[in-house]
This record gives sequence, C-alpha cells and structure tokens, in this order.
Amino acid sequence: MKVGVLTGGGDCPGLNAVIRSVVRKGVQEYAFEFVGLRDGWLGALQGNVVPLDISSVRGILPRGGTILGSSRTNPFKHEDGLRRVQDTLAAHDVDALVVIGGEDTLGVAAELSRHGIKLVGVPKTIDNDVSGTDFTFGFDTAVGIATEAIDRLHTTAESHMRTLVVEVMGRHSGWIALHAGVAGGANVILIPERPFDIDQVCGWVTSRFKINYAPIVVVAEGAVPKEGQMILKDRTLDEFGHVRLSGIGEWLAREISERTGTDARTTVLGHIQRGGTPSAFDRWLATRFGLHAIDAVKDGAFGVMVALQRTQIVRVPLADTTAKTKVVEPSLYDEFGVFFG
Ligand code: F6P
Repeated sequence: MKVGVLTGGGDCPGLNAVIRSVVRKGVQEYAFEFVGLRDGWLGALQGNVVPLDISSVRGILPRGGTILGSSRTNPFKHEDGLRRVQDTLAAHDVDALVVIGGEDTLGVAAELSRHGIKLVGVPKTIDNDVSGTDFTFGFDTAVGIATEAIDRLHTTAESHMRTLVVEVMGRHSGWIALHAGVAGGANVILIPERPFDIDQVCGWVTSRFKINYAPIVVVAEGAVPKEGQMILKDRTLDEFGHVRLSGIGEWLAREISERTGTDARTTVLGHIQRGGTPSAFDRWLATRFGLHAIDAVKDGAFGVMVALQRTQIVRVPLADTTAKTKVVEPSLYDEFGVFFG
C-alpha cells in the first residue's frame, strides 16, 4: 500500500507531529510506503510529489510549520481539477491519502471522497472550529501564546493607564479569544458569534478606569459590532458572505478613545499565533491523530476524519464534519459574563 500525505490551509503547530506518527506507524507496523504531496492540494494538482520515509520525519516532532508545505488551493476551483488530482495519484501509484487540514482542506477531501478517492482526514487549525472533534491541535499552542501576550499587556497597560485591545485570530469562531481572554483575565472578550454593543464596551472600559484599573479588551478578528454601529466604509464581506471589518482591533481602539476620552492602543497578534514549536498537549493530540489515521487507512475506513471526543479518538464521516463550522455556544460564552466589565 502506498499512502500520500498532505497538509493544507493555514499552517499550525503540530502538523509535523502528525506526519511523523503517520509515517512511523505506517512503515514500522504495516510496511506501507509513503510519499508527500507538496503544498496541500496544489501538489496534487501539479504532480509535485516527494519521497517520505522514516529518515524524512526524524527530529520533526517539536518543529512548527510543516515539512510538506501548505497552501489554500482548492482543486475544484481549477479547470479539470478532479482529473488532475486523479492523474497525480495514478502516476505515483498512490492508493490512499492522509489529508491534514481545516474546514476548507477537509471540505475538498469530502468532495474527493464522493468521487471515489480513498482518504482519511485529520483536523488541524489554531481556530479550533472543526465540527465533530472536541479540539484540533494547534489551538492549545495559540491560546498559550495569546495568554502570554495578554499577561504582558496587563503590566504596560497599568503603567500608562490606557486600554489595550488585543486582536487574536478567529474569522468565524471566537475560541482563541474566549480561552486566552479568560486565561489572561481580560475585561472584555468579543467574538464573531455575538455581535457586540460598542456603547456597552465603552461602559465596561470606563468602569475599569473608575476603580483605577487599566482595561484589556480581547477581540477575535471576525468580531463585529451590532448592526447600525459600524461605519459603512469599514465593512466588507468575506468569501462566505459574513460581515467583516478590516482591522477590528484598530477600529475598537479608535472608538473607545473617541467615545471615552481615554487613551487606547491595539496589538494585533497575527501569525505569531501560528508559528513556533507546538505545546506538549498539541504534540500529544497530533501524534494520536496520526496513529489513528493510519489505522483507519489500514482498516480501509475511508471518507472519515479522526476526531477527539472526550478522551477517545473516534472516526466521524467527513461529510458531517465539513457541513458546518464549530462555533462557541451562547451558553458557554455567557458562563464568563461575570468576569466582563
Ligand atoms: O488558519 C486559520 C487562520 O488562522 C484564521 O484565523 C486567519 O484568519 C487565517 O488563518 C489567516 O490566514 P492567512 O495566513 O492565509 O492569511
């Protein structure tokens, strides 16, 4: 059996740990052969296939990024995309794929699976927004980085008695904002799932200053104010038709400053959240996902994604997981209301 491995979408810490465990178990226990497809689905389209063996995965467990490269390519948006992917797999005698990706990459995997390509999905993303799994790897590392940043921002905010707004990643879901915001003791946490009231945010900020405390506002990049509170020129629609504000962190600091007459600044954490070495939890989860993904290949259980549910790694149909984004439940967000303001 020859297995192709690819990593697609935005990178995240732990991708190499999955590649390593897939290859090690596949070679040592099942005598499989492996190849890597470079840069996600782009490699499948272009026939960019590289050898992958035990020596290629040596020493990569703690390394961030992905040794296979990544891209956001969708073969179905290219002319003859399906046929070109099928041709690449046939040309390299690839029997099955292990596809490591988030919503978009796994969405393509689900579609290819419907066209008869044998594959198993592995969920990754710092955003933690893949349905069917309690956690994706990469998320824990990103939350750790964002929490450390918030800890640091508390002390500088206090020294200057100003509001510091921290913008974290999360286009469609507020998992990083909520977890890091709670862990870092933020005063306001704003997530895409719950349009916020800018007057209420300013009220919280003012109440913090009254007790001589400098407020920290954590905002997910996809968060938006309530209808009517945004300036039209700041508004754009993303590829899913969701409302986006370009630079929500900057927008918030400007509004807070103007409405409260106090100083406010913004820190955008950006890709720092995706870089560097994975946390111990992410290495553990990524390694387990890899071991179970190659078991699924061995069992001929295709069209599934491996997922963490409670403490177990299970197989869920790819079609179910890619049908909708896993967002923060209103009740979970509301649990922390007492800490806001
Ligand atoms: O991987 C998901 C994500 O981290 C989002 O939170 C963020 O909006 C996006 O990636 C950024 O992607 P890119 O690096 O392609 O701009």
